[in-house]
Amino acid sequence: MNDGLAEKARTLFAEKFGAQPEAIAFAPGRVNLIGEHVDYNDGLVLPMPIDAGTAVAWARSDDGRIHVHAADLGEGDSFEPDAPTKPGEVSWRSYVRGMAAQWDGELPALSLLITGDLPRGSGLSSSASLCIALARAFAAATGTEIDPTSLARQAQRTEHEFAGVACGIMDQMAIAAGKPEHAMLLDCRDLSYEHFAIPSDWAVLIVDSGVTRGLVDGEYNARRQQCEAAARALGVDSLRDVRMEKLVAAALPQLEARRATHVVGEIARVREAAKALQTGDLARFGTLLQEGHASLRDLFEVSHPVVDELVERLQGKVGASGGARMTGAGFGGSVVVVLPESRAAEIDGAGDGKVLRVT
Ligand code: GLA
Repeated sequence: MNDGLAEKARTLFAEKFGAQPEAIAFAPGRVNLIGEHVDYNDGLVLPMPIDAGTAVAWARSDDGRIHVHAADLGEGDSFEPDAPTKPGEVSWRSYVRGMAAQWDGELPALSLLITGDLPRGSGLSSSASLCIALARAFAAATGTEIDPTSLARQAQRTEHEFAGVACGIMDQMAIAAGKPEHAMLLDCRDLSYEHFAIPSDWAVLIVDSGVTRGLVDGEYNARRQQCEAAARALGVDSLRDVRMEKLVAAALPQLEARRATHVVGEIARVREAAKALQTGDLARFGTLLQEGHASLRDLFEVSHPVVDELVERLQGKVGASGGARMTGAGFGGSVVVVLPESRAAEIDGAGDGKVLRVT
């Protein structure tokens, strides 16, 4: 967590609750380098944590309730620790109450102040970051140690049960178990993972398209159902178990065939990308990012015209020496660009949109 964010959380907490917080919990956001819409198909993904994230300043209180203030929105909530109910509408409160409901054991009365520097709706996992930061605050307040995988599962259940998004587990794992400056090759079937350092002569940047992901959870859930239908038709538990030859031979209905072709191809690209990362082959890595974007745009149909245009422009600048693609669930959001460090300045500050430097 950067010092500025911690200080901000501390100051805002004191202003709101009239006392100092006991500590500040933090969780980062994440950017996915490659492996999109494959986590809920038991696939492989290659995300990494970023510096920006969510801070939760906390202190125990004595009035028997959990009081929460979302400083960046100027909104509050209050509920009994042992009876968090699902709010009528999905909002940030859903995540707070969801994480309190998932907590294994008794939570004390608490005052919590949330602030962050992660843009919402830009495909950088602000909701998973909020969930993990809250769980870290609960762990600190109760003196509990939780392993990263259990933390990630609690956060995923909150998305499913309190926010109605049937998400996979990539974001939560990347945030709970990721390592700065390292990509994480995560197997979403057994949750085993390995960290790979980003070579020092590579730069990873995120460019915001300015199109925020709106009311598209229905589209996300529909993609998941289409993948499950394709797996059923192919007689397998998940698309992870399908080879491209089998898929081509199966003659699925067109829509399901497109979705499954993306998933099977994307899992193969992640394996290749992890190899390219280990051997420092940035040109190959870049080609895989380009292929991944085309597949998300044409086969999985989760991109957005503004994002496609930005990817094209950025790819034009990077040329054959790196790659650009949409990152996250899609329908707007951000573009990730990987290019030689010596050329990062051509993207940073070139006026294509707000740029975040990851490495
Ligand atoms: C969102 C979900 C993840 C994953 C990505 C797409 O970020 O939360 O589980 O499915 O979309 O790869």
